Amino acid sequence: MIGEKIQIQNLHVGVGDKEILQGVNLTFELGKNYCLLGKNGSGKSTLSSVLMGSPEYEVRGGSIEVYNPSQPSFPTKGRGDTVIDIVSLSPEERSQYGIFLSFQHVPEILGIKLSEYLRTIYNIHLKQTQPEVRELSPFIFKRFIVPYLEELHIDPVFLDRDLNVGFSGGEKRKIEILQMKLIGPKYIILDEIDSGLDIDAFKRVAELLKSINSESNSIIIITHYFTILEYVEVDEVYVLEKGKVVEHGGKEVIEKVKEGGYR
Ligand SMILES: Nc1ncnc2c1ncn2[C@@H]1O[C@H](COP(=O)(O)OP(=O)(O)OP(=O)(O)O)[C@@H](O)[C@H]1O
Ligand SMILES: [Mg+2]
Repeated sequence: MIGEKIQIQNLHVGVGDKEILQGVNLTFELGKNYCLLGKNGSGKSTLSSVLMGSPEYEVRGGSIEVYNPSQPSFPTKGRGDTVIDIVSLSPEERSQYGIFLSFQHVPEILGIKLSEYLRTIYNIHLKQTQPEVRELSPFIFKRFIVPYLEELHIDPVFLDRDLNVGFSGGEKRKIEILQMKLIGPKYIILDEIDSGLDIDAFKRVAELLKSINSESNSIIIITHYFTILEYVEVDEVYVLEKGKVVEHGGKEVIEKVKEGGYR
């Protein structure tokens, strides 16, 4: 049996008459880290949103397959490979396969308190991974979350604020990392997580990502800067252009782009 991975084959995606992704092929093997590069408008965010299941985009061809997911709710059968095409699944279902997206533009959601949001995603995660454990009440959750807040230096007053509403760039990123810590995703897509942070906030976020990274997850970094790659080491690099993968290789690809741009 082969290991866990996400395999994207000949993926075509569009909106209206616009064809944005034009036959993307790539693979994310669990345990390896990746970097997705490409000029503005090459399709990186579209690919991330489509992986997460955004209803904004229409998948017009190809497949996104998860191989051998090992979540307890999806036991692998027998000795063969389990392969699931997730194209028709909702974002919630995809998160059960361990897919997590940190948005380029983090949405602000009025009317949903941070504490309720975090409690909900944690309880869903609990139900999937440990169905025998009772879900946490608001009261218990507020105590449960304290060490996480302390570790990430997040002021508890944030719990009573609306999700991301008026949060600074750095605060939004810390909340995303808090979510990662709570639910332990496997495939973590970071769409320009390094944009708009001051130097200290960037360092803290990068260190936290480094501490989250392990053999049992994959960090997929989309970036226009390269400093983050000094914290999270990548194994493979894909370069997108006009909705296609035009280059795939090891870290040498980063050096090439750093020196010569996307010519
Ligand atoms: N909802 C949409 N409707 C129409 N066009 C879209 C939509 N979303 C993306 N596009 C177009 O698809 C192309 C790819 O956009 P995308 O945001 O994926 O690029 P990107 O590689 O993430 O760029 P950047 O590095 O600037 O973030 C762009 O031309 C963009 O205008
Ligand atoms: Mg983008």
